[in-house]
Amino acid sequence: MKRSMFFFCIASMAAAPAATLSAQADVSVATVAANVAAKRAVDAPSWSKEVSRIMQAKCQVCHTPGSIAPMVLVTYQDAKKFADKIKARVATRRMPPWHLDKSVGIREYKNDRSLSDAEINTIVTWVDNGAPEGDAKDAPPPMTLPDPAIWQYAEKFGQPDLIVKSAPYTVAPSGQDKWWRPEVDMGLTEERWVRAIEIKPSVPLGKRVVHHVLTTLQQDEGPMLQGLASSAMDHSPGARPMGAGLFMEWALGKAGEIFNDDAGKLLLPGAKLRWEVHYYAIGQEVKDDQVEIGVWYYPKGYKPKNRTILNMFNIAAGSELDIPPGQKTITQNFITLRGPARIENFQPHMHMRGKAAMMEAVYPDGRREVLSHVNNFQWNWHVNYIYADHVAPLLPKGTMLVFTAWHDNTKDNASNPDPEQWVGWGDRTVDEMAHVWVDVTYLEQDDFDKKVADRKKAALVKP
Ligand code: HEC
Repeated sequence: MKRSMFFFCIASMAAAPAATLSAQADVSVATVAANVAAKRAVDAPSWSKEVSRIMQAKCQVCHTPGSIAPMVLVTYQDAKKFADKIKARVATRRMPPWHLDKSVGIREYKNDRSLSDAEINTIVTWVDNGAPEGDAKDAPPPMTLPDPAIWQYAEKFGQPDLIVKSAPYTVAPSGQDKWWRPEVDMGLTEERWVRAIEIKPSVPLGKRVVHHVLTTLQQDEGPMLQGLASSAMDHSPGARPMGAGLFMEWALGKAGEIFNDDAGKLLLPGAKLRWEVHYYAIGQEVKDDQVEIGVWYYPKGYKPKNRTILNMFNIAAGSELDIPPGQKTITQNFITLRGPARIENFQPHMHMRGKAAMMEAVYPDGRREVLSHVNNFQWNWHVNYIYADHVAPLLPKGTMLVFTAWHDNTKDNASNPDPEQWVGWGDRTVDEMAHVWVDVTYLEQDDFDKKVADRKKAALVKP
């Protein structure tokens, strides 16, 4: 930004003397200026032509009546009222919620809802010009907006095959955050492979009181995890045994998880879900709240080649996280892959002092590569960045994943409730955390080799 401003200044300084020389009289300067202004008015973006279309494509899914955003951005009158705020949020890349550094690492994501630089420029120019409506005849017809109470994946897969609810919990109007941990039987009598999962807090109040949801799978796997690639069974020394793991994690800004065609999660008969719902008070009682999880199965008898495991990789936990008042800190952690694997997503989790989080790969031959870097982290948005199929990292056995988290406990951090406080690890949002949620699909060695060869052929080589 600074850089282009600098070039802009040089350019206008160079242009100024030439313009002055060619101007014969004040009148012609004024005419030129008037012509420029007239041309700008014609080119200038208007609500009807450009801005409404961007809002439909990138904002209205949340900024509609009954959805999750605090205000509606549907009509010109709605948007005009909030023009300055819109410019501020868009120019700083806080809205739409997509806080990734787009200049490094993997560039293609399945759920990318960010604005392009050109779209940001259009919105900013529109606001700077006084947010004109333009000709109402140019406006697109209003969008039919999805009902926030319905399953978002229903459009793709139909209604869920299985819906499980957390046990009811009443959130008091005020008080400290609460963690509700009921265990619920999923009612399974046979083994099923899962292709997609969605978590849905109730609408409208549940969406306002639920900060995050974890669901952990409790099932009898026998001595070894079932359905896992044999190449991942070769435990590296010191590696903890893997459990069935998390079924799904949810936080504001996320709907669910859709597994790659060749992978899924495995549910065994008798499976139970252990819920952890993090509630916070909103000044009014929310009675008997329940969170729902929707599950879509692969057809009966179909077994995908691979089992995906959702990992919580800690960057720093417990006493490792030590953030003195007025300081910025960096913490790191390293995880070595026990088998060849495909990484499906990146979803960092921090709280109010969280600023940035990065995942890199150090390959067994020593090469190092940034996979994803969230450099504009917003604590109230837990966006899951899901890699597009043809770029999802394929990492050989022994690759080290390097995770880095940055916290900012100074007054520069607008989300910081108190830069004078020492901050350590803890559950409350005023405490800190630093971990990432990553779905890892371990692959058989020959399958991995083939996938790598196919990518090489397509000249989209990762490793
Ligand atoms: C995924 C849902 C979602 C999308 C998409 C989204 N927003 Fe938001 N927006 C929210 C929520 C929720 C809030 C309130 C929480 C917050 O401030 O982060 C918000 C807050 C805002 C605010 C601040 C409101 C205030 O009173 O301070 C502005 C401005 C805004 N959004 C504009 C936009 C624009 C413009 C777009 C599209 C370019 C957009 N948003 C896309 C959900 C969304």
